[in-house]
Amino acid sequence: MAAQDKTPFAGAPDPGQGAQGRPLHVAIVMDGNGRRAKRRGLPRTLGHREGVEALKRTVAAAGELNIRWLTVFGFSTENWSRPAAEVAELMALPKRYFESDIARLEREGVRVRVIGRREGLSAELVKIIEGAQERTANNDRFFLNIAFNYGGQADIADAARRFAEEVATGRAKPEDLDERRFTSLLATADSPPPDVIIRPSGEQRLSNFLLWEAAYAELVFQDVLWPDYGAEHLKAALAAFSARDRRYGAIVADDVLAAG
Ligand code: FPP
Repeated sequence: MAAQDKTPFAGAPDPGQGAQGRPLHVAIVMDGNGRRAKRRGLPRTLGHREGVEALKRTVAAAGELNIRWLTVFGFSTENWSRPAAEVAELMALPKRYFESDIARLEREGVRVRVIGRREGLSAELVKIIEGAQERTANNDRFFLNIAFNYGGQADIADAARRFAEEVATGRAKPEDLDERRFTSLLATADSPPPDVIIRPSGEQRLSNFLLWEAAYAELVFQDVLWPDYGAEHLKAALAAFSARDRRYGAIVADDVLAAG
């Protein structure tokens, strides 16, 4: 199978997918751990640990709400600039999460994938990540992507480099590159584009999350800090999504008539 055809999701969004009602793919910037801890006079690291508990609640809620793909932002390529002790705590979170939850995820049909660069991660962490992915590789009820050491720009640069290598070695020609082929080179190639990107904590920006994939995502910003996030917040975000009119650059049928 040609590289560009390895996924049914590569390329422009299918207007039918998640267009009405419930989204197929939800992405979340898990933001506000540090602020919540600080407001309570606690160390930021504790906020991140509470963030893992919110992730567990949200994965469970997403499954119950018939969402098939959930992509969460756990560590960005820019987060390395945080103090060393905080980076060390963040690096320990996947282990903490998988130690407590991987058996349940496996049992419940969740396929786990960790997207992002492996460079910079310890050999132990890479082994834990690969182990979690392998253990759940045959599951297909629910897809959980954890973006870790991930940056949208870094992923686009990596994809561009991969295509340049294909051209340099004669496996591709420059004119072979279109949106579909490029999408197939991204870390998210096996997932449909996100229908909605949720950011709690009151901040209203993407912060280098899923930049290419966000082309037609609805954005929902919520005023709750991530460690407090739960099923009711996810339901509220889905309600906001279902009220949106998704047109993918087209116009609605009535306006087509009006346009003559
Ligand atoms: C954003 O900043 C959040 C993070 C850098 C970490 C988010 C990680 C989790 C919620 C747990 C992830 C779990 C796994 C398994 C990887 P911040 O929360 O420090 O924000 P703030 O300082 O702006 O409040």
